[in-house]
Amino acid sequence: MKLLITGAGGQLGQEWVHFCKGNEIEYSAYSSKNLNILDEDNLANIFEQDNPDILINCAAYTKVDQAEDEPQLAGLVNSESLKFICELCSVHQTKLVHYSTDYVFSGSEEDRKEVPDGYPEDFKTNPINIYGSSKRRGELAIIESGCKYMIIRVSWLCGQFGNNFVKTMLRLGEERERLTVVNDQFGSPTFTDQVVEQTYQLIHKNKSGIFHLSSKGTVTWCEFAKEIFNQKNLGVEVVPVSSSEFKTKAMRPYFSKLSTQKISTIEGIKILSWQEGLKKLLNSL
Ligand SMILES: NC(=O)c1ccc[n+]([C@@H]2O[C@H](COP(=O)([O-])OP(=O)(O)OC[C@H]3O[C@@H](n4cnc5c(N)ncnc54)[C@H](OP(=O)(O)O)[C@@H]3O)[C@@H](O)[C@H]2O)c1
Repeated sequence: MKLLITGAGGQLGQEWVHFCKGNEIEYSAYSSKNLNILDEDNLANIFEQDNPDILINCAAYTKVDQAEDEPQLAGLVNSESLKFICELCSVHQTKLVHYSTDYVFSGSEEDRKEVPDGYPEDFKTNPINIYGSSKRRGELAIIESGCKYMIIRVSWLCGQFGNNFVKTMLRLGEERERLTVVNDQFGSPTFTDQVVEQTYQLIHKNKSGIFHLSSKGTVTWCEFAKEIFNQKNLGVEVVPVSSSEFKTKAMRPYFSKLSTQKISTIEGIKILSWQEGLKKLLNSL
């Protein structure tokens, strides 16, 4: 089985490359420098040349705030590109594994009351920012294309490669004794090592459709930050603030916990708590 990895320079893409190398999995990988997924000729040539069984699409426009000013580019990368990618997958009998986001949901108070343990895969989507809306349109392009696919939604992604919240907190924790962090957005971190391992298991089990991958438990960014400093024994004071005191260009869902119920029922897949996932990550840094 041969994998083709796009967006290989991002945090999830790098984790995939690391995993393939460590497990002697046949793969080819392209960062944005070597393959712009908007370049249809290059994409078609690479499909022709590499003839992959599985396309792992880690390429995405992920700048949530900047997307509000660049809706067109976000739409091209996160939605439009998928139409041609799906065509290629159909022609080459390649299964598409695509990553999406908790931001496809609205995160409203009503939703939280309805599904307090997290959004199930089939819950009504209703994105509240440009990034979330571009990712949802990408999902629809895949579903409507008729190609073989798995869409894997993750939330609050963190890992050993690239930039993420854990690394930002560790850096700021070295520089400052006191940090303010929002305490009214609820979700769950997803760790890239588990995303890759579990995706690989799903591929082997020949699964298709939509899956939510995340950790057990729900937390706020502020509680997450406190646990990072606690596990690292760093005496940083973390002060809770509300989102209204920490203005960002894009609106963020107030509640974006993804339910892990469906994935937990799959034999051989073990979901860690967010604290256990964090411990593993901190040990690897
Ligand atoms: N990060 C999160 O918290 C989070 C949360 C939920 C879901 N997700 C989803 O998880 C997936 C992986 O995210 P990530 O955190 O690994 O993102 P990331 O670190 O930003 O990586 C995305 C990669 O895609 C590349 N890229 C952007 N435009 C491209 C194009 N036109 N052609 C080819 N490559 C392009 C980027 O390259 P450049 O840097 O050169 O632009 C970057 O290396 C994405 O689908 C994302 O939507 C992420």
